[in-house]
Parts: sequence; structure tokens; C-alpha cells
Amino acid sequence: MTLHLLALLADPQLPKSAPSDSFWLPVDASVTTRNIDWVWDFLIWMSVLTALAIVVAMFHFVTKYRAKSRAANEHAEPSSEHNTALEIAWSVLPLFVVIALFVWGFKGFVDLRTPPKEAMELRANAQKWKWTFDYKCARGGLTDDTLHVPFDRPVRMVISSVDVLHALYIPSFRTKMDAVPGRYTDLWFQATKAGEYPIFCAEYCGTSHSDMLSRVVVHPPGEYETWLKGACEKADSLVGPERGKKLYTQQGCDTCHTLDGTPKIGPTWKGLWGKSESFADGSSHAVDENYIRESILDPSAKVVKGFAPSMPTYKGKLSDKDIDGLIEYIKTLQ
Ligand code: CUA
Repeated sequence: MTLHLLALLADPQLPKSAPSDSFWLPVDASVTTRNIDWVWDFLIWMSVLTALAIVVAMFHFVTKYRAKSRAANEHAEPSSEHNTALEIAWSVLPLFVVIALFVWGFKGFVDLRTPPKEAMELRANAQKWKWTFDYKCARGGLTDDTLHVPFDRPVRMVISSVDVLHALYIPSFRTKMDAVPGRYTDLWFQATKAGEYPIFCAEYCGTSHSDMLSRVVVHPPGEYETWLKGACEKADSLVGPERGKKLYTQQGCDTCHTLDGTPKIGPTWKGLWGKSESFADGSSHAVDENYIRESILDPSAKVVKGFAPSMPTYKGKLSDKDIDGLIEYIKTLQ
């Protein structure tokens, strides 16, 4: 929670969501958050009260039984007496408290792990170091680096990773789930407040782990469908360099390839077109349509000298029209 506050202070690109009514926790915006916040508050206040009680009792006894003087050499009188009622009370009362906490916690856990049957499904993809989300359009699909969801409808996120462990973490929905390569995981939520909330990666996944940020936009009633229709139409109508430019950020190309000439995880796209590229195996090749296409679909076929073979394949994720768009876009970056 403190982490959340610090992150908000540190990163201006994070969305400014509505102020929270809790000192400790970010604003809550899902149906399952109340239960979690209640247990959190209970634990905090129970810890504060217990700590206070112990310290007060300690000071009381320290004063009351203080040795009057060293010379008197007083000793406490040995006693085998004990207070049965007190001992039963301090054993049994905490037992009930932890049983109650377990029941609450378990119920909350079951709620969090059981998406309602009617939940709509969205896909979340993790890769170093970007989240992308897939939407179904009337024709084909759409990928975006922002999560868009409707207000007050259960949403089940099906999560996967193309490279290493990541974790989809939405603090305002009090939910988090690992993204594991070669496996699907899921989480669900039902937004109770329209607005924008931050998304983090909560699993240390390498150099730019802390930059693996996104946001969830909760659309007010009825507006999600309008947004989806518009976004689908727009994505479908773009052609050539315009399409490539859009895909550059939507598909996460920007996490590794810059447009300003500086190398990042991968070579820069500036001045890439037509250049003769040298590869790790000693060969070289001019950057043309076929080279770019091959690098998108089979990135490990030709790895540029000086870079690690860390790019995931985009086979099945990009259409021919998309690849054409990216090629046209790279051509414009001279
Ligand atoms: Cu992805 Cu940390």
C-alpha cells in the first residue's frame, strides 16, 4: 500500500484515480474488495491494540516491581501459584480470533478464485516488459496496451506470458495473479466505480520490471460497447505506415526498439530500412521486406550482433496486413 503511494508519487504516467477513503489502501473499485479491506483493517487495529496493551503492561510491571535498592538485594518470592482463569482466557480468546480470521480469509479466497459463470472473458498477455490485452471484434480482434472493461460486469482475465514469470496486479481491485509461460492462469473482478486505475507487474521479471505499467479503464454504463466498436473499426481501417505506427506501441515493440537511434533491448528502428545488418553467426543481410517479416515471425533466425535473442515470436498474433503495416512504418523512419 505504501508502495502504491510511492509509485504514484514517482511516476507521472500512472493514472490519477479517485482519492481513496482509506489511509492505507488505494481506492477500492471491485465487488470483492470490501471483504479484503475489512480483514486488513481488523489485522492492523488488532496489532496496534495488542502492541499497546503489551507495552503498557510492561511499563506498569517494570515500575511496580522495580528493585527498591541494590543493597537490599531483594528477590521475588518463588511461587508455584498461577491464575487458571487468566491462562484459559488468553489461550481461548486468541483461538477464536484466529478461527474467525481463517473463516473470513478462506471465504474471501474462495470468492476471489471463483469467477461468476456469466463473466465476460478478456486475454492478458505478459512479455518483457509490457502488458497487452486482446479484445474480440465483430471481425477479427484487437490488441491494446490498456485494459478496457465495462462498469459493473464480472470480467475474467485469462493470463499468459511469452517469456518469464510476471504477475498481473490491479491494486484497486485487490487482485493479483502470476503470468506463467506455457500455462493459462486467471483472475476476475467486477468494477464498482468508473475511472482509471493503475496496473503493475508484481513479479520481478528483469531490468524494466518497474516500468511494466499499464492502466485499466472502467467505462461508465453503456460506454464500453461504444469504445470497443470504435476501437475495432479504427484498428481495422488503418493501413500502411499508420497501422504500423499504432502496432508499434499496442504490440509492445516500443519496449525494445526505439525510434531515435539509440539501441535498447533490440536495435533501433531509425535508419533500419536498407541498412546492412550483421548477425551473431557472422553473416550479414540487407534489411528488406523479407528480413523484417522473418524477424517478426521467427526472431531467432537472424539475431543482430551484440543483442540477446530475447524477442518473442509474433506468429499468430499479427496478420499479413499488420506485418505490411510495420514494414511500411519502418520504411518511413529514415
Ligand atoms: Cu513483468 Cu515484473
